[in-house]
Amino acid sequence: MTRLLDTLALRPTDRRPIWVMRQAGRYLPEYLELRSRHAFQDAIRDPKVASEITLQPIRRFGFDGAVIFADIMTPLEAMGVDVTFDPGPRLTPMSLAEIADLPDLDPDRIAHVAETLRLVRREVPEDVTVIGFAGAPTTLLAYLLEGSGSKEYLVLRRAMHEETPELEAAIAKLATSMHAYLGMQIEAGAQVVQLFDSWAGTLPRSILEERVFPAARDTLSDLEAPTIYFAPGAGHALGSMRDVGASGYGVDWRIPIDEAWDQLGPAVAVQGNLDPAVLLTSPDRVHAAVRALIERTAGRPGHIVNLGHGIDRRTPLENVAALVAAVKESS
Ligand code: CP3
Repeated sequence: MTRLLDTLALRPTDRRPIWVMRQAGRYLPEYLELRSRHAFQDAIRDPKVASEITLQPIRRFGFDGAVIFADIMTPLEAMGVDVTFDPGPRLTPMSLAEIADLPDLDPDRIAHVAETLRLVRREVPEDVTVIGFAGAPTTLLAYLLEGSGSKEYLVLRRAMHEETPELEAAIAKLATSMHAYLGMQIEAGAQVVQLFDSWAGTLPRSILEERVFPAARDTLSDLEAPTIYFAPGAGHALGSMRDVGASGYGVDWRIPIDEAWDQLGPAVAVQGNLDPAVLLTSPDRVHAAVRALIERTAGRPGHIVNLGHGIDRRTPLENVAALVAAVKESS
């Protein structure tokens, strides 16, 4: 058992586990060096390169979790969708009916992710937990309908209000396919899987409860590893989020983590929730923020330290080192 697995099972540990969303990325000079020789999608498709990028932050900082280098859009390729990146995802917008008609995900077309996981699992120290992930149905639906990220997600929000049979079928297609994708990752060595629902927070609570959380629940049900659900900006629906049935929940930086935990309920773990902007300050500030965070969850197992969203590319390395040191000094 690793610290991260124990924490998700609400078992006491010597200290909290720490990893950071987007830890394998552009704030790291060794990542930028590799990326100068490999385009983003080529890096994902080459298990040697992808596993190396996954391991870079583990070697430099000693995080407790290694999150596999890929994107939430990667598995859509195995459903016949063409995606490019600039730097975010770009694709030809699709209708709900077209999404519902996509072929089911073909694991053979995405075997490189499984191979990356096997390589990472072989290479990481025993106390480091390998983390797989997928995009949640609603968030993938947002990209497929809109064709890219968006400020308001009006196409998504309109579709959600229209309540058509095509909407239901499109969501079911994505839930089934991502369930299979996560199962493949677990079989290949992922010890924990996280479901990213990055744009769910744009939706009203009623729709989250009726559509979004059930779709996430279907995606995560009956997997043979603990699960984490992360829906930043969905603080207005924490009280019903546990219906997703995950082992743990990511909490964004907007709400004190203990308040979020009270709303989520005592039977689940929490992950978060330092403001990524804290990592743009100084090592002293980072230490103080970690101490304050840990105080809020004191006396109760089940807290994974992380940021409230992805790490910013302008983050100074010394502040990341300070974050890990501050967590490792605590008990
Ligand atoms: O940020 C989130 O909300 C997490 C979920 C998410 C990921 N990708 C996970 C991820 C989302 C919403 C995306 C879409 C996406 N893909 C964006 C967001 C902005 C937009 O325009 O919609 C971007 C910029 C990409 C492209 C991308 N993905 C790059 C350039 C990278 C490299 C690393 C970096 O951030 O510099 C990624 C990797 C990525 N995306 C990972 C994950 C979990 C890799 C593993 C890790 O977390 O380190």
